[in-house]
Amino acid sequence: PEAITVQELANRMAEKGADLVKAMFKMGMAVTVNQTIDQDTAELLVTDFGHNVRRVSDADVELELDTTEDNEADLKPRAPVVTIMGHVDHGKTSLLDALRGTDVTAGEAGGITQHIGAYQVTLKDKSQITFLDTPGHEAFSDMRARGANVTDIVVLVVAADDGLMPQTIEAIHHTKAAGVPMIVAINKCDKPEANPQKIRERLLEHEVIVEEMSGDVQDVEVSALKKTGLDDLTDKIQLQAELLELKANPGRAAEGAVVEAKLDKGRGPVATILVRRGTLKVGDIFVVGAESGKVRAMIDDKGKQVKKAGPSTPVEVLGLSGVPMAGDQLQVVDTETKAREIAEYRQSVMQQKRTTQAPASLESMFSALK
Ligand code: GTP
Ligand code: MG
Repeated sequence: PEAITVQELANRMAEKGADLVKAMFKMGMAVTVNQTIDQDTAELLVTDFGHNVRRVSDADVELELDTTEDNEADLKPRAPVVTIMGHVDHGKTSLLDALRGTDVTAGEAGGITQHIGAYQVTLKDKSQITFLDTPGHEAFSDMRARGANVTDIVVLVVAADDGLMPQTIEAIHHTKAAGVPMIVAINKCDKPEANPQKIRERLLEHEVIVEEMSGDVQDVEVSALKKTGLDDLTDKIQLQAELLELKANPGRAAEGAVVEAKLDKGRGPVATILVRRGTLKVGDIFVVGAESGKVRAMIDDKGKQVKKAGPSTPVEVLGLSGVPMAGDQLQVVDTETKAREIAEYRQSVMQQKRTTQAPASLESMFSALK
């Protein structure tokens, strides 16, 4: 319930002050940029400009974090982050296993992926690709909704013997909504009943036009079982990645996103963090969502302890105050006091939201009318 000047509000919205004045004039309010307006008017303006309403004081706390842009000269090439998507049982995990030369499926309960795995594969030319194996598309859209647009490229796995299924189509929609380039991996091509051409044709119906149909979406026939077409797939990922010119500054304080997090019986809260920029080091103090902490240890995707992790590297981080949520952002800060302050503030905001947003069920609405 605090006041804000039109100019301050404009700055926070990244809009011109004059445009806000104009909009208010249309609403019948004559103000100057230096005039203060109340919370209600501010919220009205924010919605009018198509922004999500965000508490003013929320922005103040965020400002304490170093979110400055990096200098062009500090940017170094980074590995692409590839999310594997597709219908249940079409072979996402098997494909990832084949690419890694290991066997994760064998160790999974019932062969259904229970979590998001994050792995880094080193190719023959020593370049790397980071893969995320999604259990479902909610995880992907949840992370996006929370501002963690971590995926550079989507590999859509379609089983050649099964064709386009509901979750295949859902994955296409999510990928398009995210504006992320897609590569189609037509899997299980070892099966006698496999019909890759039919899949290319069916993809047209969903406006996914592969190169063979004179479109610009790369596609590749693979068999995770027989390990065929894998080099072709990684070549195409690299080609796509080159076009994206992916870069990050490894020299700054680290920022990353939570891929998954859990409470481990022996080790306490553990989060898999995908480093986005900067280098995360043991001993770093950080805030992650509404939690804070100090990196006690880091474990890479091969189970090895590491001292630091650069851009596009997934690592398990130990030393958190609690379990953050998938998609939460991790930011390294200078002092433990600051980390705690920000985390506590965010916790109080979450608490506030929970108490003010009463359940909007029909029942509660009726009882309110009584
Ligand atoms: P969810 O994580 O449950 O969504 O499944 P997934 O997409 O990860 O599929 P998964 O890798 O678990 O494979 C499902 C089944 O298909 C397993 O029985 C695999 O052995 C089989 N499979 C995967 N790839 C191939 C392939 O290239 N050829 C054949 N013949 N079978 C395959
Ligand atoms: Mg799986």
